[in-house]
Amino acid sequence: MSKQEEKISELIAKRAEARLGGGEKAIIKQHERGKYTARERIAMLLDEGSFEELDMFVTHRCTNFGMEKKHPLGDGVVTGFGTIDGRLVYVFAQDFTVLGGSLSETMAQKICKVMDLAMKMGAPCIGLNDSGGARIQEGINALGGYAEIFQRNILASGVIPQISAILGPCAGGAVYSPALTDFTIMTKGLSYMFLTGPTVVKTVTGEDVTQEQLGGASVHASKSGVTHFATESEEEALSLVRKLISYIPQNNLEETPLVECTDPIDRLEDKLNDIIPDSPKRSYDMYDVIGAIVDNSEFLEVQRDFAKNIIIGFARMNGQSVGIVANQPKVLAGVLDSNASRKAARFVRFCDCFNIPLVTLVDVPGFLPGTGQEYNGVIVHGAKLLYAYGEATVPKVTVTLRKSYGGSHIVMSCKQLRGDVNYAWPSSEIAVMGAEGAVGVLYAKEAKTHENPAQFKLEKEEEYKNLFANPYQAAKYGYIDDVIEPRNTRFRVIKALNMLATKKQTNPAKKHGNIPL
Ligand code: HXC
Repeated sequence: MSKQEEKISELIAKRAEARLGGGEKAIIKQHERGKYTARERIAMLLDEGSFEELDMFVTHRCTNFGMEKKHPLGDGVVTGFGTIDGRLVYVFAQDFTVLGGSLSETMAQKICKVMDLAMKMGAPCIGLNDSGGARIQEGINALGGYAEIFQRNILASGVIPQISAILGPCAGGAVYSPALTDFTIMTKGLSYMFLTGPTVVKTVTGEDVTQEQLGGASVHASKSGVTHFATESEEEALSLVRKLISYIPQNNLEETPLVECTDPIDRLEDKLNDIIPDSPKRSYDMYDVIGAIVDNSEFLEVQRDFAKNIIIGFARMNGQSVGIVANQPKVLAGVLDSNASRKAARFVRFCDCFNIPLVTLVDVPGFLPGTGQEYNGVIVHGAKLLYAYGEATVPKVTVTLRKSYGGSHIVMSCKQLRGDVNYAWPSSEIAVMGAEGAVGVLYAKEAKTHENPAQFKLEKEEEYKNLFANPYQAAKYGYIDDVIEPRNTRFRVIKALNMLATKKQTNPAKKHGNIPL
């Protein structure tokens, strides 16, 4: 064997060693836990054969607690770049087979390297998390490593899309990196996120709680809203990342690539003409409306199980990616509350960061009243949504389907919040409040002294409805650009979006605004 051949064999052997991560036993253990290894995950995530690994030979520099005796190649993370549907992405996957994927100083440097590359090249950065947290043997150096990552998450926010899949433990301060990214995906039964684990919880509060109850995927998908998606398996989580990427651009200066539209843009949906029930107290399903107007009824819903009174997600209209925000009359009558407001606000801001037009479907009776909401700070949370819409400069098309009352009318992308095209269905009711409430305030005294108060109220309510329970009062003042036939909604929205394709709007120069957080 020549010297060169020897060197090449050595390289091949080192590569093979690095690819084994923590070794065969640890890989078997990882599989027994029901989890894939970092490299298997990357292979599932990226286009076949597209992955180029970096820093395979990096090792930690720790000499405490016998660490000087073990130097697994690549340390506890696999990093590099590849493509999803031919588009460049950067990826890091924590390798639980190496010291539980715990974060060392050098691991952080590897992660920061791909984040820096992603920023330079303007491409999404995807993190696959599966880690026991800060590497205990490294002390402050591990913490410093986390801080380096967080700082990059912050600077990259709004410049490149950042997506986190949580495929195992993610605890302590480590949760803040995913929390700083745009979207978080968790796998049910296999992943968890919490700041302090069950043992500490028991010591401090006396509460008995399992990892799953404290920070499992279902909890974060439905109760806290921390995760945007909860999947049944890792395969589903990784294919979801691919799907999500298809709806978003590479960076804040680019548009999402157009997809060929096979769905006729002028498709008439007769069922929409009948979808609004005659009684204002009856509901209908907003998903039916969304499905009817978007391309091929395809809708990627975000935070499906959290604050279900508002629906957010991605769809395409004439092949163009759009963000949909819609009140859901089937849940709490579509009312806005604290959770719905913050859920929608963050989504509106994401779309605005990344040049994704917003299509807003309105059927909102108002904000949820009561001490529960007020004590919870609904004023500030509602203001988040108001701020997000008012600040957004992407094309904004709003369609009011039925109710649009009071403050919630304003918040839901009204004309004066720089809504570009605002349409209404003939069933719209755009007013300060509903008929019953209005008559109660306006005619309280008269009703008391009237010989037939019930009849009097009914008459006054009828009068109010005739005046305000329609879109024409708003259309008269130009607050609504047109009243449209429901079955024609898809075509009219697509035409509006086409018209808005070259929209340019800027906000006053400032360091940054002070959104009511
Ligand atoms: C060093 C760690 C580690 C860590 C796990 N390991 N976590 N090594 N530092 N933080 C090692 C284990 O010693 C073990 O090594 C291997 O990884 C696999 O771990 P197991 O315990 O065998 O796996 P499992 O039973 O599945 O349990 C996983 C776990 C548990 C729940 C994550 O390992 C655990 O509780 N780890 C500690 C978690 C923690 O408290 N981290 C610090 C959080 S504070 P061997 O050699 O036996 O295979 C934090 C602050 C971040 O992270 C702050 C950022 C600002």
